[in-house]
Amino acid sequence: MDSKHTQLEQIATDIREKNVCPDLAMQAHRLVMGDGSVDADIMLIGEAPGKKEDETGLPFVGAAGKFLDQMLEAAGMNRKDVFITSIVKYRPPKNRDPTPAEKAAFLPYLLRQIAIIQPKVIAPLGRHGMEFFLPGVKIGEIHGQPQRMTLDGREVVIMPLFHPAAALYNGKLRQTLIDDFLKIPEVIRELK
Ligand code: URA
Repeated sequence: MDSKHTQLEQIATDIREKNVCPDLAMQAHRLVMGDGSVDADIMLIGEAPGKKEDETGLPFVGAAGKFLDQMLEAAGMNRKDVFITSIVKYRPPKNRDPTPAEKAAFLPYLLRQIAIIQPKVIAPLGRHGMEFFLPGVKIGEIHGQPQRMTLDGREVVIMPLFHPAAALYNGKLRQTLIDDFLKIPEVIRELK
């Protein structure tokens, strides 16, 4: 069996070869696959790359990413302990929301990433990352509450969180996200 790195690289190759979301691909500079440990216990799933991510090819490197780094540090983790990605892997023009068709087109590739990394905890950041795992559920009602589910025959815990970009400049939401984030180490500990 190929190494996890090789298998993850193959996903990027397949996205290019299958010409997934050609309209997005044409306007974006980079495919942003994700970053972090391929053996991470926790996988964070955002929405789609923004401007900085599109320039660098790395997830969460703009203002929301800095905030994410602070929360990781406060929770005793850092980027190399986790794996960070997004549901949609090309930047939507002008940072518009990804469409349902775009999210559906990228979902099989996200599921392949999950199958390779096998995280114990999946933390969707915002509703776009969450809706596949917890369909029909509102993030405002379920954030910070770990949900057990079976994915591909494997038990995982889904820890829904607000998106750091949404919470960044909203004092109340910001504190809520920080509080929810700080619960993650305990959720992981309980699983071990
Ligand atoms: N927002 C996301 O959802 N993903 C990124 O990589 C950056 C901002």
